[in-house]
Amino acid sequence: MNMPAAAQAFALAPWMTEQLALVEQALGQALHADGPAGLGQAMRYAVQGGGKRLRPLLVLAACQAVGGQLPAALRAACAVELIHAYSLVHDDMPCMDNDVLRRGKPTVHVQFGQAQALLAGDALQALAFELLTPEQGVDVAVQARLCRLLALAAGAQGMAGGQAIDLANVGCPLDEAQLRHMHSLKTGALLQASVAMGAACGPASAQAAQALAQYGACIGLAFQVVDDILDVTQDSATLGKTAGKDAAQDKPTYVALMGLAGARAHADELLAQAQAHLVASGLADTRALAALADMVVRRTH
Ligand code: IPE
Ligand code: IPE
Ligand code: MG
Ligand code: MG
Ligand code: MG
Repeated sequence: MNMPAAAQAFALAPWMTEQLALVEQALGQALHADGPAGLGQAMRYAVQGGGKRLRPLLVLAACQAVGGQLPAALRAACAVELIHAYSLVHDDMPCMDNDVLRRGKPTVHVQFGQAQALLAGDALQALAFELLTPEQGVDVAVQARLCRLLALAAGAQGMAGGQAIDLANVGCPLDEAQLRHMHSLKTGALLQASVAMGAACGPASAQAAQALAQYGACIGLAFQVVDDILDVTQDSATLGKTAGKDAAQDKPTYVALMGLAGARAHADELLAQAQAHLVASGLADTRALAALADMVVRRTH
């Protein structure tokens, strides 16, 4: 029977296995253990051996949806994961969340010291942009677009700005608009950028680009809502990071604002909106993006 692509069953697991192999290989090649004075080892430690790699998967899924170029998308996938890994290294430091466990291992500053953790984060950020600007193999206009998307998502109007708001509001209850703003910046921006970067590797119509941007905004916010839920409902072994940190540190979260049931309902609502934006994109095959949106909301760690 002939079925439209979107209606056919999509097997996420084999797709993910294939994409993750590409990403791990490319990250392994990009990260050299022989960086000066142990810096390379700290960088590898921060990136390798753990992590769901959700952001790279979103880049690759969005690239596929628009029929884009894999070499550019693979670089973008690694670049966004490097920025994410750097954000985690710094997020865990004593001056921020002061955490000792990440991805099931001691955090980078615990393993290598605070100065090395700071530098590993700095160097991972620089490496991300180096990966996006190869001397050949990716059209320079695409390189520039990818750099701009990632810089905007990582900086003061994105992740770093959101982290600043987070730290400035410890112990302060935020209303929903304020919390949405903070979460959309600190976590949503990089996830939304992952989708936009994948789409920038191919020819996306204005309608498709707009719908993908909205899909990215919904799953980006949903991701942090679920992170807030998991902090309360899971144990540290499952999460690979310290559970119960948000309440212990009096962080403003969706669970604090609307309770567990309210936060779950909100995540489901955002998932439904994300799926509706995919349908509105007019793209022929958004199955991987749809399956990843489900994964964002249904995940257990
Ligand atoms: C955790 O992100 C930090 C947030 C932005 C909420 P992930 O849950 O994607 O962490 P890894 O990459 O799988 O370790
Ligand atoms: C961190 O949010 C978001 C980042 C930009 C790293 P959290 O502080 O909630 O992340 P976890 O729970 O430590 O992974
Ligand atoms: Mg934090
Ligand atoms: Mg944290
Ligand atoms: Mg958290």
